Amino acid sequence: NLLPVILSGGSGTRLWPLSRESYPKQFLALAGEQTMLQATWQRVAAIAGRAPLIVANEEHRFVAAEQLQQLGVQPQAILLEPVGRNTAPAIAVAALEATRDGDDALLLVLPSDHVIADEQAFRAAVLRAVPAAESGKLVTFGIVPTGPETGYGYIKAASGGDVRAVDRFVEKPDAETASAYVQSGEYFWNSGMFLFKASRFLAELETFNPAMLAGSRTAWQQARRDSDFTRLDKDAFAAVPSDSIDYAVMEKTADAVVVPLDAGWNDVGSWTALRDVSEQDGDGNAHHGDVIAIDCRNTFAYGERLIALVGLDDVIVVETDDAVMVGKSDRMQEIKQVVAQIKADG
Ligand code: GDD
Ligand code: MG
Repeated sequence: NLLPVILSGGSGTRLWPLSRESYPKQFLALAGEQTMLQATWQRVAAIAGRAPLIVANEEHRFVAAEQLQQLGVQPQAILLEPVGRNTAPAIAVAALEATRDGDDALLLVLPSDHVIADEQAFRAAVLRAVPAAESGKLVTFGIVPTGPETGYGYIKAASGGDVRAVDRFVEKPDAETASAYVQSGEYFWNSGMFLFKASRFLAELETFNPAMLAGSRTAWQQARRDSDFTRLDKDAFAAVPSDSIDYAVMEKTADAVVVPLDAGWNDVGSWTALRDVSEQDGDGNAHHGDVIAIDCRNTFAYGERLIALVGLDDVIVVETDDAVMVGKSDRMQEIKQVVAQIKADG
């Protein structure tokens, strides 16, 4: 009784200028032939044997529907958010939808924008997590960290075993803290994928943020349904407090467990991450499109037009119809500031 829930509402700003609010990264074919949403669907539909439920922003309804049509598949439902309220309310409405007929599915919550190289290992980890989730645990999937990334959640786990109790869950620690966690060897990264009973998530949300649950419920109860979409009520959903599942529930719950996952996971959260999952030459360069690189190391270039790089190390170049981005590869998190500036300039 596994129901995949695919979260497809993010804006992927760190992959500007390719990823835009109107066309964020989950709808792009960044790592392969399929878009990341399509790849996510295929990865999980096979495990669950049941069509996933999609939660997306209203603005993206046609892109999302069209990409699923291309696969010839029909989702359980597409829930549309009139405004983004982050992942906790998105999962809340999915859980409400899942328990609609008195059913209590295990929700396999998945971001729509990750790469997983080893699908077998992923499937095995999910199956290992099922008994714990059935017994009422909130399961996270933990990745052995490779560096002090500050964009992730950190999980301190009890030692040993396939399913470990979570001692502590810390979302997006500062750089110093992240460093100490990685050095201690006791922490996993949170992969951002979860498995739990729909009713358990709703119960935890009731405890930690009753206003969020109440608002999500109203928006869901007053949703307008047609054959393609379930549109959450605009005013009700806009009034829901905005927060991620990580802060709203996972940092607070006493019932979290972690299942270690070693499956070539990458959240493709930045151009550097995309470089790391792309095919590279002997000098660590990865290029998409027509690129000439002379005497370059660890560069990444992506574009439509011919791009020529000469004598560069650790530089990222991305060009689109209306923008060019050039930057040092260890500063790609700062693209968020570029996007903020563009917004501010109108
Ligand atoms: N439907 C919906 N609505 N989806 C959303 C929304 C929303 O308002 N906001 C984000 N999402 C989707 C994104 O598209 C993405 O697929 C997923 O939810 C996670 O959101 P991110 O915004 O990418 O989160 P994050 O990367 O900062 O952090 C999360 O993922 C990390 C791993 O990639 C956390 O779970 C961290 O703890 C984790 O380490
Ligand atoms: Mg992310």
